[in-house]
Amino acid sequence: MSTPILIALAVLVAATAWFASRLRGDVHPTQRRLLKLALALAATTIAWIVLPRLAGMADFEVLKSSAGALSRFIGSLWWIVFAVFAFIVLERFVWTSFANRGVQVPKLLIDVVRAIVFVFMLLGVISALFEETITGLLAASGVFAVVMGFALQSTLADLFSGIAINLQHPYRVGDWIEIDGATVGQVVEMNWRATQLRSPQGNSIVMPNSKMAAAQIVNFNLPTPRHRSAIELKLDARVPPGVARDVLERAALKATAVLRDPPPSVRVTGFEYTQVSYELCFWLDGYADIDVVRHDVSNSVWYALDVLGLGSWCDEPGDAATTSRAGRLVGYVDLFRDFDDSLRQRIAGVMKVRLLRPGDVIMREGELTSSVYIVELGAVEVSMNMGEHGPRVVARLGTGDFFGEMSLLTGEPRSATLTAMCETKIWELDRESIEPILRSEPAIADRLSRVMAKRRLANTMLLKNLTAQERQDAEQSWPDDMLGKIRRLFSLPH
Ligand code: CMP
Repeated sequence: MSTPILIALAVLVAATAWFASRLRGDVHPTQRRLLKLALALAATTIAWIVLPRLAGMADFEVLKSSAGALSRFIGSLWWIVFAVFAFIVLERFVWTSFANRGVQVPKLLIDVVRAIVFVFMLLGVISALFEETITGLLAASGVFAVVMGFALQSTLADLFSGIAINLQHPYRVGDWIEIDGATVGQVVEMNWRATQLRSPQGNSIVMPNSKMAAAQIVNFNLPTPRHRSAIELKLDARVPPGVARDVLERAALKATAVLRDPPPSVRVTGFEYTQVSYELCFWLDGYADIDVVRHDVSNSVWYALDVLGLGSWCDEPGDAATTSRAGRLVGYVDLFRDFDDSLRQRIAGVMKVRLLRPGDVIMREGELTSSVYIVELGAVEVSMNMGEHGPRVVARLGTGDFFGEMSLLTGEPRSATLTAMCETKIWELDRESIEPILRSEPAIADRLSRVMAKRRLANTMLLKNLTAQERQDAEQSWPDDMLGKIRRLFSLPH
């Protein structure tokens, strides 16, 4: 009996004994399958050894050749059973035990090992059928290998490039990458032939490994997921660049995903006759939501320029950059937008300005105060205590936004803590000043209650899961419920 068969037999006996010793009580289906395979392997091994001897002992030629053919058939079967056995052991014990220890085995290695087992099985089957040794087959297949090599040239290039990529790790599963400055996507799988990406539009992109190895790759996750993005815009040349920089940098901070550190920055990129071009740069943690964040920043910039009257679509943006802002702000924020001039002047007259430094706390959750504030320039962070999860940032507010309406309208303690994120200018309207205005202009109560209902709902959804129906009901009924309460509290006409 040849040495490999003896070794295989010894392994089989040991494996069968081990499985048999563990087959008490409930047996795992994989173990049961493995035991059956081990028994099949033992049976085919014995048949494979015994049949040629029987053939040798047979007196009749017919018996001899039948026993020989059967032996070749059993030999091929042995290799197939052995390969299936090896596949299951690898899947169930080797790769799983690595995974349980937190070691992520590259998919490419798994694929290559599978391919090796498969090739050995094929060689084994051929060697058993044609009664050749495997080494003899390998030597005889030299010409075949050359032909195959040419035929599989690109496949082999992909395989070796895949091995190089797995050793070098220019990217890993989960990373966002850009290929040759054109294709952007998140790596979802790396196998022996290709790297599979998912584009931001949700499509699947398959790039052969040989192309990946030759391409210029920008990895947005390396060295850290933190990276810089920018938007370009043009402003009226009458707006001084210093004013533009103050507004744009602060406006960018309002987008929740924009990092405070490193802070947003603005540079002038060109002059034209009536316009100046700017680039607004900001930092993000992760690439996944880049389009959403760029939209949020652009939205916040547009709103800030509109409220401050600095957009090129506004009247006299040059004047807006230099005049005092209280009256202008009252005229432009949504809350008071379509009120007549005398009412705006009245509101502007009772507002008090407050200048804040980064980190200044404007109000604390639970406090019993009741002023309302409007942000002229800057960014303010809203955070709430989430019980065992501690404080959590729920929103950021910027130019034109107001806050503090909940305590004013309900008399309840402050629902959140508000902190300035950068140098910020806000205007305060205290309860005594706003109450008479609320009574004379019930439209203000209506607008305040709508915003309050929306914010309340956002906070409630952070604290507990609402069904789609509950959410829809709340969206429909809360604004009116709140308006009703406010009307009763302030004795406003219906
Ligand atoms: P008030 O409860 O008086 O004081 C804290 C303020 O934070 C609150 O009024 C709102 O104006 C504001 N606020 C609370 N939750 C949010 C939110 N989710 N989004 C924006 N602002 C909020």
